[in-house]
Amino acid sequence: DKGGWSSFMAKEITEQPEAVANTVRGRVSAGTVEIPELAALGAERLQTIDRVIIIGCGTASYAGMIGAYAIEQWARIPVEVQLSHEFRYRDPVLTDRTMVISVSQSGETMDTLMAVKYAIEHGAVTVSVCNSQSATIPRESDAAVYTHAGPEVAVASTKAFTAQITALYLIGLHLGRVRGTIDAQTQADAVQQFELLPEKLREAVESHDQIAQLAHWMADSRSVLFLGRHVGYPTALEGALKLKEIAYIHAEGFAAGELKHGPIALIDHGQPVFVLVPSPRTAPLMHSKVVSNIQEIRARGARVIAVVEKGDTSVLPYADDVIRLPLADVFFEPLLQVIPLQWFALELSTAKGLDVDQPRNLAKSVTVE
Ligand code: M6R
Repeated sequence: DKGGWSSFMAKEITEQPEAVANTVRGRVSAGTVEIPELAALGAERLQTIDRVIIIGCGTASYAGMIGAYAIEQWARIPVEVQLSHEFRYRDPVLTDRTMVISVSQSGETMDTLMAVKYAIEHGAVTVSVCNSQSATIPRESDAAVYTHAGPEVAVASTKAFTAQITALYLIGLHLGRVRGTIDAQTQADAVQQFELLPEKLREAVESHDQIAQLAHWMADSRSVLFLGRHVGYPTALEGALKLKEIAYIHAEGFAAGELKHGPIALIDHGQPVFVLVPSPRTAPLMHSKVVSNIQEIRARGARVIAVVEKGDTSVLPYADDVIRLPLADVFFEPLLQVIPLQWFALELSTAKGLDVDQPRNLAKSVTVE
């Protein structure tokens, strides 16, 4: 049941405030994060972890990339992210001190399942971040951290993505607390961000009308680029994937700093570029770098669509369109920034008369390797 929406994807985009609230529920209290499923592994085991590898495919891998920044920062454990289908071919170094966190909405993705089995055989501690209850991957893993985002029907993942990021952040905060690597204030600040998140997500969902207008003018675009820095980089990759997947438009995401190492040659007159601008309040250095990136591409004729936090006027002279989002700490920005990108893909798909929920050549769950 699409609940009155034109597509499951539209419905699921609007469900993100509740989805994320459901991921957090029962896992925070009195300013601290405690995930019962992780606690069951025993504090000692969590204290000995010296390396985390996050695995997943597609959107799940981008959620993993975003989660990696936060887990490394909060738990002070080196974290790397690998595509599930690449993982075992590199003969990864795994010990009983390695935690392998798999991210999968369906919990049935064969590439990820095979990677998890490989990790189990090689003695790693396996944690599954999964949305579908009692799927194979969480059943096989040592611990299952369900996202509780509710069923996701559209092939293009939306609410599962924001819920996965949330779950990974909670894991980072839990590990940080158990390992004594974050202070009570940092923990309490993050918990407060989680509490404020649903309302901010609701506001971000309201970017729909502005995005619909933008998409109307851009329906003929042959290629769209997305730029971000830090956690904005995987968010850019996710924006590009959405567009390829459901609007069949060539799209690429780049780390903004990488532009000058090659991709800037792509910038030609009228080339649309979405730029995810970090907050000037909480990330002033990154912000100024991204603003210079905008100036560089604008000078070469790009059509710049800047996604900024409300009140950031620094991009106004250089942006053709500005999408304003509520204020949030750096780690929480991707959860908001991805929403206009999801709407954009949906609107371009609709404008081209395509089936938003069932794109060609794709299945919701990829159960072959
Ligand atoms: O069920 P999973 O999260 O394991 O699926 C992984 C990818 O196949 C999935 O995220 C895919 O990239 C989506 N269709 C993206 O929208």
